[in-house]
Amino acid sequence: MPTTVDVFAKAREHERGEILRAAREADVVPYWRALDSAAGPVVEMEGAERVMLGSNNYLGLTGDERVIRAAHDALDRYGTGMTGSRFLNGTTLLHLELEQELAEWMGTEAALVFTTGHQANLGCLGTILEPGDTVVADSGDHASILDGCILSRAKLRPFRHNRMDKLERTLERAAEDGGGVLVVVDGVFSMEGDVAPLAEIVELCRRYGARLMVDEAHAVGVLGARGAGTAELLGVEEEADLRMGTFSKSLASCGGFIAGPAEVIEYLKIASRPFMFTAAGVPAAVGAALEAARICRSPEGPERFARVLDNARYLHRGLHELGLHVVDPTTLPSGETVVTPIVPVLVADDWKAALLWRALYDAGVYVNVALHPAVPPGGALLRTSVMATHETAVLDRALEAFAGVKRAFEAEHGPLPGPAGETP
Ligand SMILES: Cc1ncc(COP(=O)(O)O)c(C=O)c1O
Repeated sequence: MPTTVDVFAKAREHERGEILRAAREADVVPYWRALDSAAGPVVEMEGAERVMLGSNNYLGLTGDERVIRAAHDALDRYGTGMTGSRFLNGTTLLHLELEQELAEWMGTEAALVFTTGHQANLGCLGTILEPGDTVVADSGDHASILDGCILSRAKLRPFRHNRMDKLERTLERAAEDGGGVLVVVDGVFSMEGDVAPLAEIVELCRRYGARLMVDEAHAVGVLGARGAGTAELLGVEEEADLRMGTFSKSLASCGGFIAGPAEVIEYLKIASRPFMFTAAGVPAAVGAALEAARICRSPEGPERFARVLDNARYLHRGLHELGLHVVDPTTLPSGETVVTPIVPVLVADDWKAALLWRALYDAGVYVNVALHPAVPPGGALLRTSVMATHETAVLDRALEAFAGVKRAFEAEHGPLPGPAGETP
């Protein structure tokens, strides 16, 4: 008897289909919009100029002459693609130089370059964990972390976002599972831009014998005096056993890495399926990331880190003064406040977020819209983010657009969520 179930049925009948159709009809879909220009602070998008407040190009290096030249040089020397795995014919001297550069930057014994950041998480977690182990993950961790945990088939024990009492209770239970335990957290959480209290996490890991991995995707090239990320900023580089990063944000390219002890990196090289069974990062991407890492490590690096964080503070203050609910910067248990380039505005309601997105887009500002499952249900955000290369006048232009859109929106739909707390 043939089956009567069509595996394609879900593509026709999934619950988001109807919402998407309605959003398409109203032309308020914030996704899949095409850029007609380089990903700078101001872009051409669908025939108009828009201030780009939806990019992870934190240092503004994608348009940097030196980074572009390095990509060209790599392209000229090695061609357009590697046509094979890092494991086989896909490793160039550039890949090795980049691994060396990253290990030195992170202060670890070794580093391994993957084709994407997503694959770095998949390839590390899916390999270093196995059935019988337990992985303890923050509920706000990035999807690629969750995917890596699922791939590993280790027991997954999530704990409530940034709640150290919950982490402790979870670690107590994990210690009784009988296998190895790894805690994995984002250093900077990708949607709300808040920071993991790594000093407390390290202390708990030590107490319960767990290893720690930190995803520094949004912190490399931004936080810490050397731009080495949250672990550096919070003084726990030695204790963070594994550090993951991407090239798709501050490093102006595409790819990812794991930095850590040589024995783990060697193991990943021979056992990590997302490392071995995919083509290596293309030379232009690797060349660009290497140059961007070198710029971060030059005296220019800290100037750029400071500029992006100053811009974040400026935008945060401006949006707050307009009466919007801007998600507060994280106050660590030490009392220290940490600002990141991610400046999210809480809207709460999904449909309102889409309408606001459209109004801002028409007013010449592009922002990202984060809806469930990227954020908790009822936690829709306009996720704005800044670059070191945004000029104040450009941020002012965006703030003016926000002011006009807020006024018109509230006149029609009632008040938006108001300010939360302090400005940074
Ligand atoms: C926290 C975090 N980890 C991992 C990734 C995956 O990196 P990539 O997009 O470079 O594959 C992202 C990217 O969105 C991220 O935000």
